[in-house]
Amino acid sequence: MKSTSALLALVALLPAFTQAQTAQWGQCGGIGFTGSTTCVAGSVCTKQNDYYSQCIPGAQAPPATTAPPATSVPPATGAPSKPSSAPGSTPTTVPSASNPFNGFEIYLSPYYAAEVAAAAAKITDPTLAAKAASVAKIPTFTWFDTVDKVPQLGTYLADAQSIQKSTGKKQIVQIVVYDLPDRDCAAKASNGEFSIANNGQANYEDYIDKLVAQIKQFPDVRVVAVYEPDSLANLVTNLNVAKCANAKTTYLACANYALKALTAAGVYTYMDAGHAGWLGWPANLTPAAQLFAQVYKDAGSSPFLKGLATNVANYNALSVATPDPITQGDPNFDELHYIQALAPALQQQGFPATFIVDQGRSGQQNLRQQWGDWCNIKNAGFGTRPTTNTGSPLIDSIVWVKPGGECDGTSNSSSPRFDSTCALSDAHQPAPEAGTWFQAYFENLVSKANPPL
Ligand SMILES: *[C@@H]1O[C@H](CO)[C@@H](O)[C@H](O)[C@H]1NC(C)=O
Repeated sequence: MKSTSALLALVALLPAFTQAQTAQWGQCGGIGFTGSTTCVAGSVCTKQNDYYSQCIPGAQAPPATTAPPATSVPPATGAPSKPSSAPGSTPTTVPSASNPFNGFEIYLSPYYAAEVAAAAAKITDPTLAAKAASVAKIPTFTWFDTVDKVPQLGTYLADAQSIQKSTGKKQIVQIVVYDLPDRDCAAKASNGEFSIANNGQANYEDYIDKLVAQIKQFPDVRVVAVYEPDSLANLVTNLNVAKCANAKTTYLACANYALKALTAAGVYTYMDAGHAGWLGWPANLTPAAQLFAQVYKDAGSSPFLKGLATNVANYNALSVATPDPITQGDPNFDELHYIQALAPALQQQGFPATFIVDQGRSGQQNLRQQWGDWCNIKNAGFGTRPTTNTGSPLIDSIVWVKPGGECDGTSNSSSPRFDSTCALSDAHQPAPEAGTWFQAYFENLVSKANPPL
């Protein structure tokens, strides 16, 4: 008896000895999580939902229902203006034969489903609550924005595999690879956990190795990845920002490592390519095509490196009849025009790319003051649902990459991650920290959804 309890006590102590403390904003708990549950001094491990607890700076933990991953993807500074109105009408065209979405169902993230269920439960109007709850059935991507979240991927892949076995319907697990050192080099809200100056490249390679190790355990489950929102686009237009210029060599080396590893593991990968109001400007198209094609060729021209993802976490429509005035004369005033201009330039450089387009928050148009505004845009609505009926053979699927309801960035000017874009007049305020749940914003996305929920 005595020796048994002594042994148990020893075992209970082990994690404290073997695991480091979790940094601010890092994951500290949740189903499938195996890392440290202790936060560094000054932050508190706060349960966001069953799948995620996070180290939140400051003494007070946010209310238990808020949600988390730092999913925000601010777009870019350096780009001119913006897109147009009218929700994307969806024409019909046959997708290309090599479309990785064909014949598959998309696995629903239990994490996002839990966020949505908690949010819907807070809504008193029964009609709105029912619409809100229905969002849990719309597939989004899951953002792996810290190394601590990687074990969750194994949980999801195992779950997808058992769904596949029990239903006979092949599953795709959709992920965002998002943990570059000196991440988000042109903005502030989505700073990452790794820095170039502090072993960032080696830490990133370890993060990629861990992701790929999970994926390789489930070879019969298809994985589709969006690769590093904003990173390569920043190298096209934002090298005037010192942090981006300094990051260039490392971003390219990390991308090369990651893209080779992901494609070798059979992951269908789309590199993030900003949006129409960023790389869609005529002066940016050729340099963008050159960079993406070079990265593609350097990574071995794998057929699994399918192409590019556009409009991630942004608000542009796929196709509009009339340009939003803020597009200020960009001939590529919506995502379809952008893709149709970029694809031939890529082709010319030897990259036969196809595309996926985020329409998760693109239901309403003509909302922004400037095309470059990206933070919690007021009166945005959920957009066209994910579909392979895209109207263009260049577009494999309309997708929802940004989980609608997760905040883009805080409007609190005292916060270390404050980005002034989140306090502009077209940004919904007050807004909590990036990645945490933004209930009022979610409710607005639901009520403004187009097509309606
Ligand atoms: C704003 O951020 C500061 C610094 O993190 C914090 O002390 C303060 O409570 C925050 N204010 C609100 C309204 O959240």
